[in-house]
Amino acid sequence: MTDAHEPEATTADHGTRARAPWSIRRRVALGVVALVALLGVLIGAVSVLALRQNLLQRLDAQVYDVSHYLLAGEPGDELPGGSESLSAGLVVAVLTPGTGARGYVYTDPGTAQELTATQLRQLFAASADGPSNVHLSGLGSYRVQVHTASNGALAVGISTADVDTTTWTLAGIFGLVTFGALLLGAIGAIALTRVALRPLERVTETATRVTGLELASGDVAIPERVPEAESDPRTEVGQVGAALNRMLGHVEEALVARQRSEEKVRRFVADASHELRTPLASIRGYAELTRRIDAELPPDAIRSLDRIESESIRMTALVEDLLELARLDEGQGIAHDEVELVRLVTDAVGDAYAAAPDHEWEVVAPEPPLTVEGDAARLHQVVVNLLANAHRHTPAGTAITVTLAADGDDVVLTVADDGPGIPEELQPRLFERFARGDASRARDAGVSATGSTGLGLAIVAAVVAAHDGEIAVASVPGDTRVTVRLPQHRAAHREGGPELAD
Ligand SMILES: Nc1ncnc2c1ncn2[C@@H]1O[C@H](COP(=O)(O)OP(=O)(O)OP(=O)(O)O)[C@@H](O)[C@H]1O
Ligand SMILES: [Mg+2]
Repeated sequence: MTDAHEPEATTADHGTRARAPWSIRRRVALGVVALVALLGVLIGAVSVLALRQNLLQRLDAQVYDVSHYLLAGEPGDELPGGSESLSAGLVVAVLTPGTGARGYVYTDPGTAQELTATQLRQLFAASADGPSNVHLSGLGSYRVQVHTASNGALAVGISTADVDTTTWTLAGIFGLVTFGALLLGAIGAIALTRVALRPLERVTETATRVTGLELASGDVAIPERVPEAESDPRTEVGQVGAALNRMLGHVEEALVARQRSEEKVRRFVADASHELRTPLASIRGYAELTRRIDAELPPDAIRSLDRIESESIRMTALVEDLLELARLDEGQGIAHDEVELVRLVTDAVGDAYAAAPDHEWEVVAPEPPLTVEGDAARLHQVVVNLLANAHRHTPAGTAITVTLAADGDDVVLTVADDGPGIPEELQPRLFERFARGDASRARDAGVSATGSTGLGLAIVAAVVAAHDGEIAVASVPGDTRVTVRLPQHRAAHREGGPELAD
């Protein structure tokens, strides 16, 4: 066969190769993680802010209580010991026009410490409109309320340290819970999608098994179907499974119908060929008989009889070839004998030399035996057809070399000639039936008892295929090479079809 060129992968292909798409599993897991993260952050932020607001309001109420308690007394009085729990972290300062600012911070209940000038300045810089956050150097953040009056100002503040601690603790808890939820969500999403997609995997497995069936050759039945559990149309995956099952059913029907019609055609050709044999033999017999009768026949009549004879011989060969192809198509009748090829090939070359002594013949073969498992008569026909091509489609004087060699577990037969070569336009369909070059047709237009039908290589290819072998043809003017590779042992014996009458 002429070399089929593999389409080369272009570099552009590599350049534009798309990124591998994300699997559903990955998408769902990432989607869940993103959603949980968003919800966690949202709920956490709202809760923490609301709690903080609430705590600050309580702090403001306490600041208010302390302020009013103090405003009822004399500014500058020590804090009464009544609310000890409040006194930790409390800041009180008074500003009187005469004496200036003075204030204390109560760290432990009952322990007061004088505020520095900076701290006092920071304290009285706070707005008098309502409670506000003030940072006091060395003391931290305070919730401060300043009350002004004609005779001075009073500033009361309570540390927000507790509120901050509570806020940050809650935020930390939310962070941890969100992180845990993320992990659980991701694991859960992966596990759930795995379970959810398992039926789809089974549908895919079915489809994959179908692609493994040899539908192009041999059996056309498709026994594979998606299991019932995965083809229930009430589920999404079931719909895919059911659709695949319906499709497989259609494909099977179509294949069976096609196989039936092919079989009909094959049988018709086989039957027709078979039926034509007897009348053809009669035509030849009568033509011969007529030529042998004593009566003087005019030269035209003798020429006509010659043509009748030669054409009937040609047609008989054609009919035999068609019958042989029909048998090979049915895959029947291939023997599994030990066939010794060195002897077979040298004998065939001897016969070919007798038929075409004007060609130069050469055989290169190892010492016998070189055997393959197969059908002796058909392998002989392969060799004969190839040798016939090598001398019939080449002029006298052409050198023909037949090489036979073992190559691993195979035997390789090569028939090479230095003739004009096979026409290029013929090469792609060389093994098709009735494929032949124009020169062969032209030669046939003359009187030719041998006849060229264009079935020779089709039969060769069919026999080689039936032996699980391979055939290749390479031809340029001056070098035509047909290579047949046959396995010495065939993997499995094919089942023969019904015998055709012969
Ligand atoms: N060695 C060769 N040199 C040149 N042309 C060839 C050679 N072998 C085959 N061909 C070409 O290939 C065509 C097909 O060959 P094939 O053997 O199938 O048919 P055929 O020889 O024409 O007829 P048949 O073999 O049935 O008598 C031939 O007609 C011929 O044109
Ligand atoms: Mg031929």
